[in-house]
Amino acid sequence: MKIQILSEEMASRIAAGEVVERPASVVKELMENSLDARATEISVSVERSGSSLIRVTDNGEGMMPEDLALAVERHSTSKLKNEDDLFCIATLGFRGEALPSIASVSKTTIISRPPEAAFGHQLLIEGGKKVEAKAAACAGGTTVEIREIFYNVPARRKFLKAPATELSHICDVFNRMALANPGVHFTLFHDGRTVADYVSVSDGSDRLHQVLGRDTAKDLIPFSATQGDLALRGFLSVAPTSFPNARYLITFVNRRYVRDKILTHAVLHGYENLLMKGQYPGVVFFLGIPFNEVDVNVHPAKYEVRFRRQSEVHEAVANAIRQALKQEAKGPSLRPAVSAPPRFGGVMEPQFHYAAPSAETHGPSVPSNDISSLTPRTETSGSGFFSSMVILDQILGCYLVCSSSRGLAIIDQHAAHERVAFEKLCQQMEAREVQKQSLLIPQTVELSGGEAMLLEKKIAVLNQLGFDVEPFGANTYAITAVPALLPEGDYRQVVRQMMAELAEVDKSDKLRQHLEERLATIACHSVIRANRKLAMSEMRALLNQLDEIDFATQCPHGRPVLLEFSRDDLEKMFKRVV
Ligand SMILES: Nc1ncnc2c1ncn2[C@@H]1O[C@H](COP(=O)(O)OP(=O)(O)OP(=O)(O)O)[C@@H](O)[C@H]1O
Ligand SMILES: [Mg+2]
Repeated sequence: MKIQILSEEMASRIAAGEVVERPASVVKELMENSLDARATEISVSVERSGSSLIRVTDNGEGMMPEDLALAVERHSTSKLKNEDDLFCIATLGFRGEALPSIASVSKTTIISRPPEAAFGHQLLIEGGKKVEAKAAACAGGTTVEIREIFYNVPARRKFLKAPATELSHICDVFNRMALANPGVHFTLFHDGRTVADYVSVSDGSDRLHQVLGRDTAKDLIPFSATQGDLALRGFLSVAPTSFPNARYLITFVNRRYVRDKILTHAVLHGYENLLMKGQYPGVVFFLGIPFNEVDVNVHPAKYEVRFRRQSEVHEAVANAIRQALKQEAKGPSLRPAVSAPPRFGGVMEPQFHYAAPSAETHGPSVPSNDISSLTPRTETSGSGFFSSMVILDQILGCYLVCSSSRGLAIIDQHAAHERVAFEKLCQQMEAREVQKQSLLIPQTVELSGGEAMLLEKKIAVLNQLGFDVEPFGANTYAITAVPALLPEGDYRQVVRQMMAELAEVDKSDKLRQHLEERLATIACHSVIRANRKLAMSEMRALLNQLDEIDFATQCPHGRPVLLEFSRDDLEKMFKRVV
């Protein structure tokens, strides 16, 4: 027999609580059981958003009749043998709670046959009571059918949300399982209609496309890193892609979907000052960690975990994200700038009809992603991503239009300059010396009593940021030096703005982040304003500087610096192809 009943002592150590909250919880538990049984085909059918039927069929290892009878008893599991196992859990389930909890609030049928057995067995349970057990003909694997969930708990039934909401929870559960297990073929049916059919794929990014759809998946780039015994990989969004909520921030630990504060915080930390306010990244993150380094027995629905070395994990995750973003910003990979064409319909023009003129007539046409293969037509191009672009012109007083072998690039000069200034300031602050320029004629600011008190407290911080401010009579202060990067002008406004922003900063642990945000304010005041004609040499210098910094593709407020249109994009926009 595989399944054992846990001793009372062991059972009492298992995180207790509500397992079955809604139809989606049933789908989650049953799919987890199928995955633990090493199924390669998992099919989920629901009717009326799961309220009348949930059926999960797998081709996994199945259960012998003795095991089947035990499976629905409380604290019966094949996944834990002794106490040590509890600290090294490699399976998704381990509590021996799911089937009995589900069976106690529904009419449940389980049919199962280990592939090597001659025939299968069926067990019927109503409201937790075994009603019938008999032999049954069936395919190898297990089918669990849940009818009329909460039929005997009317209070629970009343709390179910609108059918569309319950169905969307089911889809979320299903999709997350699919993301973590690309080698498994998953199908989902609702009221007899196919909702999803994800054939088995060997590559995680193919599964990402199946689950998120082409439009969203194309904006997420793959990354991977290792740090000691941690394996970190997944997909992340880079500028200008972002989302208005955290819906696409999905984290897994050893293939288990979790909602973990540490992981989420670490991921967002990696994106610091690369996103616009109120925007979230899209990140599908898989953390691989030795089983004994993570405690999964902390939440009844197993949605939370506890890391043994929490701060190490946090640092590794934030670093992995930061590094991936840094790398991408250095040489952005080309992603389509226009949405994908419909799969069917439309007229397809021949692909080669409009191909670029050949090299003999019009210089090289190199539709390659390899920037080293560039052959610029004009002077002084460098070899970096930005410096190798050919500058065509500045338009509307604020955009540089450039060409590259990949197509057309438009650069927002304000955003670009702001990022360059910001990175310089960050480096200077890290080296503990923001370069200052002393003012020949100090500028005085007159403040209200309250403001003056505040300024008094923040003088040291302002100092760190490159401003020297001294008392100059009652409630009046003199600005005697400012960051060297700021152009000549009226500095009172920037000092006032800094103070207003600093008023909100109290806790020292947040100081670093707040200082960076203030640097962004300084950077913003230091830049080439729009509507100024730039000389070719200035444009060239700006592009060269972009190549020297880490996050050249976004301004410090998260706005994009660069828009790119590839040949494909242009052809789609001009309807040359569908
Ligand atoms: N689809 C399945 N295929 C094969 N065996 C299964 C299947 N579903 C359940 N079992 C067996 O029944 C046992 C009980 O399942 P149940 O889901 O109640 O508990 P568990 O998976 O061990 O722990 P948890 O409560 O954390 O899910 C499992 O340990 C497993 O041996
Ligand atoms: Mg289970």
